Amino acid sequence: MTAVHHDLTTPAVAEAERFTAHNYHPLPVVVAEAEGAWVTDVDGRRYLDCLAGYSALNFGHRHPAIVAAAREQLDRVTLTSRAFLHDQFGPFCRDLAALCRTDLTLPMNTGAEAVETAIKVARKWGYLIKGVPDGAATIVVAANNFHGRTTTIISFSTDPEARADFGPYTPGFRVVPYGDAVALAEAVDDTTVAVLLEPIQGEAGVLVPPPGYLPAVRELCSRRDVLFLADEIQSGLGRTGDTFACEHEGVEPDLYLLGKALGGGVVPVSAVVGRRDVLGVLRPGEHGSTFGGNPLACAVGRAVVGLLATGEYQRRARDLGMVLHRRLAGLVARGLTAVRGRGLWAGIDIDPALMTGRQACERLAERGVLAKDTHGSTLRLAPPLVVTADELHHAVDVLGEVLGRG
Ligand SMILES: Cc1ncc(COP(=O)(O)O)c(C=O)c1O
Repeated sequence: MTAVHHDLTTPAVAEAERFTAHNYHPLPVVVAEAEGAWVTDVDGRRYLDCLAGYSALNFGHRHPAIVAAAREQLDRVTLTSRAFLHDQFGPFCRDLAALCRTDLTLPMNTGAEAVETAIKVARKWGYLIKGVPDGAATIVVAANNFHGRTTTIISFSTDPEARADFGPYTPGFRVVPYGDAVALAEAVDDTTVAVLLEPIQGEAGVLVPPPGYLPAVRELCSRRDVLFLADEIQSGLGRTGDTFACEHEGVEPDLYLLGKALGGGVVPVSAVVGRRDVLGVLRPGEHGSTFGGNPLACAVGRAVVGLLATGEYQRRARDLGMVLHRRLAGLVARGLTAVRGRGLWAGIDIDPALMTGRQACERLAERGVLAKDTHGSTLRLAPPLVVTADELHHAVDVLGEVLGRG
């Protein structure tokens, strides 16, 4: 008897294509279940997840401690709005501020909202504390940045795909090359309230700035009375082998912008975390969100902070990152033209003569490894921090096979 093969993938892809706006171009993999570093599709095929929700799944799919915290909270209370307090709110804000070694937490939902919040706080701080003339505040950002998709944020994107046809654009931003401390210093003047940077640029292809850059940014900001806003939405919460990417350079920003993994892969949770003299400029009624800091989000966020407080995941990212980068280095000139990154996070450039990044991802998926291309020939690898060394070896073996076949 021959086994009946059900293809549930093809109709599921067709249905999604038919009923949604095409603002994404997903790989034709329809996930039905997931656990740890693995997902299973509707046809029962298993894949090693080497994207981990762009680092939103740092602790893997359905981490038991995170799921338990969510379940327990589902049985108690899930939403109050910020019109009232709830018993998860204070502890979450306290624990996250402690993890960041600072004073206050302002919870929101998505990463873009955290960035918007930081922009508002920085501008208000500039007018109230620094004394910038009303309406004149400027924020310096880096070329090739990725901070989210809102109209203000895409206003200072340098990626035509993210920006074109969405104007008019929000003014008040100056763009300088990433990693160039001299250009940054030249862009700062008395109207500058903040420098907003990713300490490692994720979407741009996991670009690590030159050593000394982040300390130079910190020194400049302190000297010129400018806030350093570190967007650690993708780089933070264990990914690079420390809690924050800024820590590798011994740098403390004025505000941490966090998201993605803060929600444990369960709910969207983001936050701006920083000192009282900065976040303290906000008064009741000036900023908010119906869902920001809700009980379910705070319970999940507390579980995430609890996992990070053990240091285990940072250690895993550091140790396994060495395995990953050692193996990937072996593919340079064998199908890869460059490898960058830190910890369990890599940007790899596929030799464009062989195939596009998209083709590489399709061939990896056919062989049971999920990854995502960015900017033509670059792939981002960011497996969950619960991945094992054997699984990493498997992923790189499969990558080598895909590259070898050209
Ligand atoms: C560095 C960085 N900032 C902000 C964002 C936006 O986060 P969200 O998609 O949750 O709005 C992202 C998302 O990829 C990001 O990588």
